[in-house]
Amino acid sequence: MNESLHESTHFMKMLTDFMPGMVGYWTKELRSTFANREYLSWLGKSKEEITGIAIRELLGDELFRKHEPYIRAALAGESQAFDYTLMLPNDETRETLVHYIPHRDGNEVLGLFVLILDIAERKNLEQAMISAAEKRQRLIGQELHDNLGQQIAAIAYQAQALERKIIASGSEGAAEIAAAIAAQAQNAVVQCKHLARGLLPLELESSSLADVLQAFAKRIALTYEIDCSFVCTGETVIDDDNLALNLYRIAQEASHNAIDHGGAQHLTISLETGKGEAGKGMFRLSICDDGCGLAGRDTKREAIPGLGIKIMQYRANQIGATLKLIPRAERGTEVLVERQAL
Ligand SMILES: Nc1ncnc2c1ncn2[C@@H]1O[C@H](COP(=O)(O)OP(=O)(O)OP(=O)(O)O)[C@@H](O)[C@H]1O
Ligand SMILES: [Mg+2]
Repeated sequence: MNESLHESTHFMKMLTDFMPGMVGYWTKELRSTFANREYLSWLGKSKEEITGIAIRELLGDELFRKHEPYIRAALAGESQAFDYTLMLPNDETRETLVHYIPHRDGNEVLGLFVLILDIAERKNLEQAMISAAEKRQRLIGQELHDNLGQQIAAIAYQAQALERKIIASGSEGAAEIAAAIAAQAQNAVVQCKHLARGLLPLELESSSLADVLQAFAKRIALTYEIDCSFVCTGETVIDDDNLALNLYRIAQEASHNAIDHGGAQHLTISLETGKGEAGKGMFRLSICDDGCGLAGRDTKREAIPGLGIKIMQYRANQIGATLKLIPRAERGTEVLVERQAL
């Protein structure tokens, strides 16, 4: 009998010592009667030192106060589980999940089982998931704002042009339809922007950045009936898709700002590339307009309402470049994104 009790006590000790976590037992008077090896090591005490010790004395006033509500609730019969950052004796911290489990006998609670598990891996994974979700949302938002929104804005603009032409030809009924299309497209632009604000990109097909910018400039000129040219200098081809996409999106946003806000009639988009290892070379992208300019706005300090400039900044940071909005001496604004060879 004694031998079997000894065996089972030995087995229980071995079991709890090998468990990946801290295991302990507190009587309902909150005195310790058991702590496994890991619990003792965290407490920095021997088995003899903690047997019979009061929990408050052991944890200290501050720690006891933090845990007291959970302890009281467990003593009232309700299992408790909560995340807690433990301070280890060597001043390191550990992310844990603490369980206080009532030891019941019928309606009476005789004491508490304590189980403290290391959840650093789970926490890291959670953090990684949050970061990934945030990144994804930001990408969708940027895509909505920079791509879909701009395309619908172009439809609205063209519908307005159509309306004017129909009026000039004397067909009022058809002009009304064109006006309705323009209004709905404007509405869709606003909705896209609202969505993008809540979320906050990507495609650059098989063509090179220079080809894409060339086609873009042509499209802008046709759609908005303004003068828009593209100039490319330098012998290096930008072959990093992410870099090319970010530069393209910056050119898109800067151009639309120049037209929408500046009322620009002339736009020049220029791309200069320099020598350097693949993907790490120097580049300078500039979008110059002859619009009304930023009217003395300090875009670094002032709270600017829209998202476009912020997203351009974010994109420039992503590709290791700087972005500046420079008032032009003659008239208008220059958006300049540049990076030295890395
Ligand atoms: N080229 C420009 N010429 C004149 N004003 C500009 C120019 N670019 C930006 N601005 C001014 O800076 C403000 C902020 O631009 P930003 O692109 O951040 O936002 P937005 O265009 O108003 O909205 P969103 O880009 O979110 O659709 C604009 O509202 C406008 O007043
Ligand atoms: Mg904008």
